[in-house]
Amino acid sequence: MRSLRFRLSAWLSLLIAGIAAVAGVIAFETAFREANELQDGQLAQVSALVTPRSLAAMEHEALASVPGTDHEAKLIVQTLATRAPLTLPAALPDGIQTVNVAGTPWRIVVKTLDADTRVVVGQQTAGRDEIARNSALATIMPFVMLVPVLIFMLGFLVRRMFMPLTALSSSLDHRTEHDLSELPDAGLPSEIVPFVVAINRLLGRIGQTVALQRRFVADAAHELRSPLTALSLQAERLEATEMPPQARERLAALKRGLTRARVLIEQLLTLARVQDQASGPTHTLSIQHVFRHVLEESMPLAEAKRIDMGVTSKDDVTVRVPEVDLRILLRNLVDNAIRYTPEGGRIDLSVCAVDDQAVVRIVDSGPGIAREERERVFDPFYRVIGNVQNGSGLGLSIVRSIAARIGAEVELGDAAPHGLQVTVTLAGISH
Ligand SMILES: Nc1ncnc2c1ncn2[C@@H]1O[C@H](COP(=O)(O)OP(=O)(O)OP(=O)(O)O)[C@@H](O)[C@H]1O
Ligand SMILES: [Mg+2]
Repeated sequence: MRSLRFRLSAWLSLLIAGIAAVAGVIAFETAFREANELQDGQLAQVSALVTPRSLAAMEHEALASVPGTDHEAKLIVQTLATRAPLTLPAALPDGIQTVNVAGTPWRIVVKTLDADTRVVVGQQTAGRDEIARNSALATIMPFVMLVPVLIFMLGFLVRRMFMPLTALSSSLDHRTEHDLSELPDAGLPSEIVPFVVAINRLLGRIGQTVALQRRFVADAAHELRSPLTALSLQAERLEATEMPPQARERLAALKRGLTRARVLIEQLLTLARVQDQASGPTHTLSIQHVFRHVLEESMPLAEAKRIDMGVTSKDDVTVRVPEVDLRILLRNLVDNAIRYTPEGGRIDLSVCAVDDQAVVRIVDSGPGIAREERERVFDPFYRVIGNVQNGSGLGLSIVRSIAARIGAEVELGDAAPHGLQVTVTLAGISH
């Protein structure tokens, strides 16, 4: 009901239907009256043909039925005095008139032939009306047929005119939250342009606010780094001094806390960096090469947990993406796989080309992620409840931000018999 398009179509359709109805009524009335006048003229002409000589023959012929005309439309010719077939009062004046004969209205012309002969030419009103009605209906038929066509065309045209608006809203709807680029206003109706300009200004302001916020997070993380490094240094120095075992225990806890804080700050800095729209230079990149790099980095962790980690696919695929981005993305996924897979587990990395896209899979034998959590784990600081591992909850946010800026897709699924399968689909494969 609030749709402008619907209201416009409805009002215009109503207007068309209303005007057509009024025009139809007027046309019908006019045609009906004209047809009646025409028939009055015919009656008058027939009466003019009645002469003292032709009277008897005409009277006789009028009684016979005329093929092709119905009974009610029949003309009768008689003298007033014969009283048959119509019984009429003798005092009728000359001229055209409507009279009632035994409950049936007749249209008659009375004419005085000579001193004692008066003739009547008549026709039942019902028959005349039917003829008039038929011809009047014929005049309004075009209206009746054209109005639905007109209304249909109107709906079609209105829909076409609103198309730019529909396209605009759907393009806005399909945007990711990272895309704050301006909406194009070329080719839009001039009524919508101010609206688009206002939205673009708003997008600009939102972009500035978001950038400001990101810079604040990045600056804060950066500023926290130095004091934290100093604190770690002090803790290390403290370790070298003599102290009772109880104090040493406390110091160990303090150092663990410091390490966690440093990892968190590093993750925050990485997130702030990858959320920036501008990514680094793109290279033609071998996925196997990136795999090797990431495996080298994380092998010690995997070995510490006796996890069998390796690449299962022999083929290589090359893509065009910034190397640093892809490395951070895969490192975070592999890091999760190692962290959440129990000791003695297994992690397989693979890559294959599917329809000009590189499909990278990281499959682990850990507990996996419940279906209902799979969207939420991408939120910053979100960690699955019951998770006993250390972590800041930023890893998958980093993965998603990188995916958004390099045009990749990340999907979480089940591995058989248990575990998580992460599928990263990279467009822009290069042969
Ligand atoms: N391979 C996996 N198997 C099981 N659960 C996982 C796996 N990867 C991620 N998760 C779950 O998703 C949550 C979010 O992961 P994410 O990488 O964003 O954060 P994190 O690993 O807790 O911290 P960070 O990576 O920042 O150090 C994790 O806390 C964990 O519960
Ligand atoms: Mg993680």
